[in-house]
Amino acid sequence: MTIRRVGVVGCGLMGSGIAEVCARAGYEVVVREVSRVLLDGGLARIDASLRRGVERGKIEEAAARRAREAIRGTITLADLAESDLVIEAVIEKMAEKQAVFRELDGLCPPGTIFASNTSSLSITELAAVTTRADRVVGMHFFNPVPVMTLVELVRGLQTSEETLEAARGLAVSVGKTVVVAKDYPGFIVNLLLVPYLLDAVRALELGVASKEDIDTAITLGLNHPMGPLTLLDFVGLDTTYYIAEAMYAEFRDARYAPPPLLKQMVLAGRLGRKSGRGFYEYGRS
Ligand SMILES: NC(=O)c1ccc[n+]([C@@H]2O[C@H](COP(=O)([O-])OP(=O)(O)OC[C@H]3O[C@@H](n4cnc5c(N)ncnc54)[C@H](O)[C@@H]3O)[C@@H](O)[C@H]2O)c1
Repeated sequence: MTIRRVGVVGCGLMGSGIAEVCARAGYEVVVREVSRVLLDGGLARIDASLRRGVERGKIEEAAARRAREAIRGTITLADLAESDLVIEAVIEKMAEKQAVFRELDGLCPPGTIFASNTSSLSITELAAVTTRADRVVGMHFFNPVPVMTLVELVRGLQTSEETLEAARGLAVSVGKTVVVAKDYPGFIVNLLLVPYLLDAVRALELGVASKEDIDTAITLGLNHPMGPLTLLDFVGLDTTYYIAEAMYAEFRDARYAPPPLLKQMVLAGRLGRKSGRGFYEYGRS
């Protein structure tokens, strides 16, 4: 099937990046947020990212302008009804995502493909609230979307081959490398990453070392580009907390249980870079 119009639900960290890369690849994009204020914030993030791309010579000024013109923001979900494929990138909670899919299912023609950018939740469970389980697929992008070149495609129990191939075509056309995982909590990357991140919080909680020394140890000792606490600030502590909760609910294994310190930081509003403070402090972007 030919995809020309892409709908994106959520214009947070991930939704804004997904809208941007799709528009840069020539798709018409409609992105939906829940309020004008959040939509304006998300569109401003896209503007800033395109500006950075031009400054760094990654994109021509005219191409950046064309990409921005290809993105239309809305707070009305029905404006996504004419999309060929909709990518959902709302908060990592099953009930919220299912509500989006249920509503989209009533708005979009039967041929429209629904993709979820979920980090850990079951694609099969999301598909179950729609009348098109064969047309629901996981498309897990990485943060920041314009920079990170991986997309994990997730095949739900009922995802059709045609749907998987359409999602693969879209991912490849926006410059990503694709891996395919079955519908298993955390898929490939988060199955391996989340216990490591939670262990880093536990190490801090136990007083094994300071946050700086934990990050320096991993950066220099393992040659990682950043330490786990810096990475947590980058991903969002709330998002990681929800992912851990979802994985713990599936596995009932203490490795996935969010440590109390992570929960406390989320409750205190220390969400990482996006809120200006997580394990470290950041200037507001
Ligand atoms: N942060 C990461 O590194 C990362 C990486 C890969 C995948 N993800 C996944 O992407 C999804 C979004 O994460 P994020 O980091 O962008 O979170 P975020 O908090 O930055 O953005 C989520 C946005 O969704 C909006 N939203 C909530 N309900 C909505 C609705 N019904 N319609 C439209 N918008 C709605 C919120 O207002 C918010 O702006 C989650 O499923 C997360 O697990 C996150």
